[in-house]
Amino acid sequence: MAIEPSVLILNGPNLNMLGVREPSIYGSETLDDVEALCQERAEALGLSVDFRQSNHEGELVSWIQQARTDHDAIIINAGAYTHTSVAILDALTLAELPVVEVHLSNIYRREAFRHHSYISAVAKGVICGFGSQGYLMALDAIARLVETEYTSDRN
Ligand code: DQA
Repeated sequence: MAIEPSVLILNGPNLNMLGVREPSIYGSETLDDVEALCQERAEALGLSVDFRQSNHEGELVSWIQQARTDHDAIIINAGAYTHTSVAILDALTLAELPVVEVHLSNIYRREAFRHHSYISAVAKGVICGFGSQGYLMALDAIARLVETEYTSDRN
C-alpha cells in the first residue's frame, strides 16, 4: 500500500490564541478547529497532516529543517515572522519542498508593514483573506502539486 504524502502545516506566533485574538480580523474559530478542518480535508485528499504551532522562531526553523526528510510539502502561516524572518526564509529554501503560504487575513488590506512577506519568495503560491478556508485551499493545491509535478520533478 502506498504511503500517503505528508504535509507539515506550520503556524507561527500568536496563532495559538485564535478564537480570542482580534476576532473581527481572525474570526472565532480556534486553532484546534482549524486543525480539525485540515485533518478532515487531508483525509479526503489522501494526504497525511502534521499540524504544529510555535511562538518561537528557532523552533519553527528546526521543524522546517526536519521537514526536508520527513515531509513532502509545507503549508505555513508564519504569523508576524512572515514580515521579519530571513531565518525562516532560509530554512524553507534549504528544505527544497513545495511551500504554500497562508494568512487568515488579507495582509494587503492591512498596515503597510504586513505587505511584505519574506516567505513569498520561496512559496509556490500565497493564499490570504479567506480565514480557515485558506488552509483547505492550500491542501487542495498541495494535493494537485504532489500528484502531478512533485511526483516527476521535485521543483
Ligand atoms: C497573519 C497575518 C500577520 O500579519 C499577523 O502577524 C499574524 C497572522 C494572518 O494569518 O492573517 O499573526 O499571518
